[in-house]
Amino acid sequence: MSDPTITTPSPVDVTGEARTGFSSRLGFVLAAAGSAVGLGNIWSYPTQVAENGGAAFVLVYFILTLMLAYPALVAELMIGRYGQSNPVSALEKLPTNRLWQPVTRLSGFIAVLMICLIFSFYSIVGGWIAGFALAPLFSLAGLNDAAQWLETFSPARNLILAALFVVMTLSVVNGGIKNGIERWSARLMPLLLLLLLVLIAMVMTQKGALTGLRHYLVPDFSLINTTLALNALGQAFFSMSLGVGAMMVYGSYLNKSCNLPVVAFQVCLVDTGIAFLAGLLIIPALFVAVDLGITIYTPEGQLINSDTLVFQVLPALFNGLGTLGIPVALAFFSLMTIAALTSSISMLEVPVSCLTERAGMPRKKAGLLICAGVCLVVALITVWFDPLFNGVIILTTHYAQPLDGLLFCLFAGWLMGRNRKLNELRQGWPEAENSLFWAIWPWYIRLVCPALILMIFFMQ
Ligand code: PHE
Repeated sequence: MSDPTITTPSPVDVTGEARTGFSSRLGFVLAAAGSAVGLGNIWSYPTQVAENGGAAFVLVYFILTLMLAYPALVAELMIGRYGQSNPVSALEKLPTNRLWQPVTRLSGFIAVLMICLIFSFYSIVGGWIAGFALAPLFSLAGLNDAAQWLETFSPARNLILAALFVVMTLSVVNGGIKNGIERWSARLMPLLLLLLLVLIAMVMTQKGALTGLRHYLVPDFSLINTTLALNALGQAFFSMSLGVGAMMVYGSYLNKSCNLPVVAFQVCLVDTGIAFLAGLLIIPALFVAVDLGITIYTPEGQLINSDTLVFQVLPALFNGLGTLGIPVALAFFSLMTIAALTSSISMLEVPVSCLTERAGMPRKKAGLLICAGVCLVVALITVWFDPLFNGVIILTTHYAQPLDGLLFCLFAGWLMGRNRKLNELRQGWPEAENSLFWAIWPWYIRLVCPALILMIFFMQ
């Protein structure tokens, strides 16, 4: 799939540094899939499935991914590639009528703010994952107290590990696109997939797994309601990194000779595929844990400790593997840390690209500034954990992402004009004009996507 002939011409940003892009289409797909695949797939998706009635949620989630997230992803990639700049500037360039510019610019700034907030709570969970990856090493070295500290919820641990996660993200982003983001994604994503498959096979042999499998795959349609739909919508937009400029900034680095709908579909497929597999591991593992006597649901059927559920169930599963458990835990949590990093680098890239291109700030300084701000927010969240952690998640993923995503669809649909859209599509797909995609997508993002998203909100 890799095509060495497509090397992005390097637009030069205002700092004079070359704005190099992805070196091949495969590199892009892996990096964009790297942004999409992360804690959203392995932490948030299984938790949502467990909280929202299993297979019923899975079904609605898949439908909304295909019907809303995929067309919105094409729109975001297109806005980014058309603009050839950071999300705020790309959005600013869209309207031909200057009156609309403040509106599109404002939506860009909201996206940047929201992605910084997402980066904050993401770093806390990323820190937990990194802690669980380090703990087996500490145990092997005989440092059991330290291992225990890494795995036990406390404000100090949350803050220190989150700061570590932020620093790791910063060091990758400082490497730039081709050397930093692309290289990491391309090497490690396939390994994660392999490990997931091996673990699924292991779980399936355990007692209780089949009950879990049934819960995951056989839907109870009576559980489908508007709350479930809203949760699934937020999850779909979060998992595909939509509505906050991440895919827009990656789109701006994407070569003009790439076919946008195809590339978007590949990203969508990888993201949904990994989420599905993560569910196939974790939901049966949940039921195995219940079989082992771990309490997961309250007598009323509410999930207990939903934020940390995965961190109870998976270690219990790995412990059950005996001595093999330690290397498996190490491999799983290390790969998860990397998957989280390939997402967080796309988060940091959004404000960094804005500061470098709009304010002329050097890349390293911009990264440092944003990370300092994010660490401050992380500190606030760790101090007032209960209200802030869930509050920030709900504000960003339930509301901001679908609603800003809706605006981006409206902008691409109404402000970009048919010709400019078609030209952008044609660059990587000369026959686009006669395709079914072109017959449907333009009016679909103008009317159907926004209407469906609003409907889900209003019914709620
Ligand atoms: N999609 C990422 C995940 O599933 C999270 C993310 C959200 C990344 C928004 C970038 C922007 O983990």
